[in-house]
Amino acid sequence: MTPQEAQLKIQELSKELEQHNYNYYALDNPTISDFEFDKKLEELIFLEKQFPEFLSPNSPSQRVGGQITKEFKSVKHQYAMLSLNNSYNEEDLLDFDRRVREGLGMASGLREPQPPSAIDLFSASTSLSGQIEYVCELKFDGLSISLIYEEGKLVQAITRGDGVQGDDVTTNAKTIKSIPLQLKGNFPKKFEIRGEVFMSRPVFDAINKEREEIGDALMANPRNAASGTMKMQDSAQVAKRKLDCFLYHVLGEDLPHPTHFENMQSAKLWGFKISEQAKLCSGINEVLDFIHHWDKERFKLPFDIDGIVIKVNNYKQQKNLGFTAKSPRWAIAYKFKAEQVSTELQSISYQVGRTGAITPVANLKPIPLGGTTVKRASLHNADIIEKLDVRVGDYVFVEKGGEIIPKIIGVDLTKRKSGTEPTHYITHCPECNTLLQRNEGEANHFCPNENECPPQVIGKMEHFVSRKAMNIDSLGGETIVQLFNAGLVKTIADLYDLKKEQLLPLERMAEKSANNLIEGLEASKQVPFERVLYAIGIRHVGETTAKKIAKKVKSLDVLINASREELLEIDEVGEIIAISIADFFSNEKNREIILKLKQAGLQFELSEEQQQGGSDKLKDLTFVISGVFAKHSRDQYKDMIELHGGKNSGSISKKTSFVLAGDNMGPEKLKKAQSLGVKLITEDEFLEMVSG
Ligand code: IVH
Repeated sequence: MTPQEAQLKIQELSKELEQHNYNYYALDNPTISDFEFDKKLEELIFLEKQFPEFLSPNSPSQRVGGQITKEFKSVKHQYAMLSLNNSYNEEDLLDFDRRVREGLGMASGLREPQPPSAIDLFSASTSLSGQIEYVCELKFDGLSISLIYEEGKLVQAITRGDGVQGDDVTTNAKTIKSIPLQLKGNFPKKFEIRGEVFMSRPVFDAINKEREEIGDALMANPRNAASGTMKMQDSAQVAKRKLDCFLYHVLGEDLPHPTHFENMQSAKLWGFKISEQAKLCSGINEVLDFIHHWDKERFKLPFDIDGIVIKVNNYKQQKNLGFTAKSPRWAIAYKFKAEQVSTELQSISYQVGRTGAITPVANLKPIPLGGTTVKRASLHNADIIEKLDVRVGDYVFVEKGGEIIPKIIGVDLTKRKSGTEPTHYITHCPECNTLLQRNEGEANHFCPNENECPPQVIGKMEHFVSRKAMNIDSLGGETIVQLFNAGLVKTIADLYDLKKEQLLPLERMAEKSANNLIEGLEASKQVPFERVLYAIGIRHVGETTAKKIAKKVKSLDVLINASREELLEIDEVGEIIAISIADFFSNEKNREIILKLKQAGLQFELSEEQQQGGSDKLKDLTFVISGVFAKHSRDQYKDMIELHGGKNSGSISKKTSFVLAGDNMGPEKLKKAQSLGVKLITEDEFLEMVSG
């Protein structure tokens, strides 16, 4: 290929990929399969490697991140990033409307005809009845960002900061797929566009689920998660967090329309993600209708909002109204009320989580709140209990915010009875009576007795048998509790000593279930090393990290003896994980458990095949296995996929590259694969792919 041809092809592929990104992330309407997308992206990356002179900083290949920002540069905003005045009720909004009308010299009083002069002056955005044209938008709960485009290219992304200057987060912003790197259509030469970076609820829940599984601290809410992510130095990590961005404010000298709403519609055509929910409203009454609607419906959205933003649509009117020192006079935020009630605190209990973290819980006199009856609420930690001076017998204010569990936000001191005692936080574990500890900088106390404290041991066992770990599905949570309570198992290693005769006396344990359990344990001895490594429950070692470690060290013995430096060399292993691994193996009890598991016959090293046969042939490909196979079992195919760098998934989606289809594949799956254009392959075709 000549350099000219390569340049053309690179441009063509970049344009095409950016369009597909837009279809997928801004419009939610993909037109090609992920497999085709990945193929095109691979081709682009290949060409850019061969002809680096044509690699543009805004190429779609740059979205995967990888660049490290050592320090975020502080930059001055060309237009200050102001905040909005808040309003909390209808009266505030009627006042706002009155101020707007008066500011524009319009007669006050709703729905009265206006004198012709006023209509002439504001005809573009003032209806005949003299109503102001407002745009109502959702108030997204994330962090605001300003994006600067020149000649259709993203040149800089800046956080709000103090409003006058913010941090240059361009590298991280480029990983957000809904932020276009190259615009299309008829965009202005130079302009700034502002919006909110956020994390959707499903992404937030999935990340927290994984963090919980490996004992990482949970993220408090999607807003904190989004702002924490934008401050990360490694943009590859940012890319993994799947942030999103709605745009809501465009600024520039040569915008195509004299109104906000129309310019936002144009911005959509240039490639931005614009909220579908924004609405043009004639007059404050329509604004109130919009607010009432979203106050009820907001919980159905897949992202958090904390209110509604109301903006005067017409720029001339905006200009006439101007700004105060802090905020525009032409816009206001309406904040939803977090529903709040007051009820009696009957007692405080302390829960011990799987990782030993202690959570104080308020037991309340039951009270309806936000559609459910609330009986319990989070009391956060010892510091907050002390700060709020919460006492048993108090009337406390309970609120349902963005988090699912209601929380106590204060005490109604006017109702405090005499003789109540200040709360003394527990000093010992309520489950095993061990002295609690608290790490510096951490809010929660924890019980350090990880190998004997019942909820911790049971939690470890549940994790050990879970699907992604040893996958012993014949051993459920209830049976684990029974086994533990009966004194039959004290550690995960004891599971392998279980005999059928010991199981049969247990409640609801039939002959068949007992056989299945023993067989399940036996079969788990073939589970490959990387999953065993994940299953033993080293704090912070998740599924992916375990795979990376296993691939690198090849056996547990090497891992146990690895130095800090050697550990840090492994991909995905940083300081915290290295310390956690060292702590785990320095614990005498853990070493005993490992030895026992080894004697039971678990895989503590990569198999011959894994050591020799691995490859990157299926890198970036996702497979769904369906049906019955003749040559290998489904599990063997799953392992082969991973061995060659591919990913397994349980359900067909836009992200599926291939369905490995055996006999009797379900008709629903077939239909789904066909409708999404996902290719089906036979087992022979698959074996061909991984061989040779
Ligand atoms: S407009 C001058 N529109 O709310 C106008 N802001 O307190 C500036 N926000 O800092 C903002 N959704 O982070 C606007 N649809 C929306 C918004 C929105 C969320 C945030 C934004 C801003 C804060 C204002």
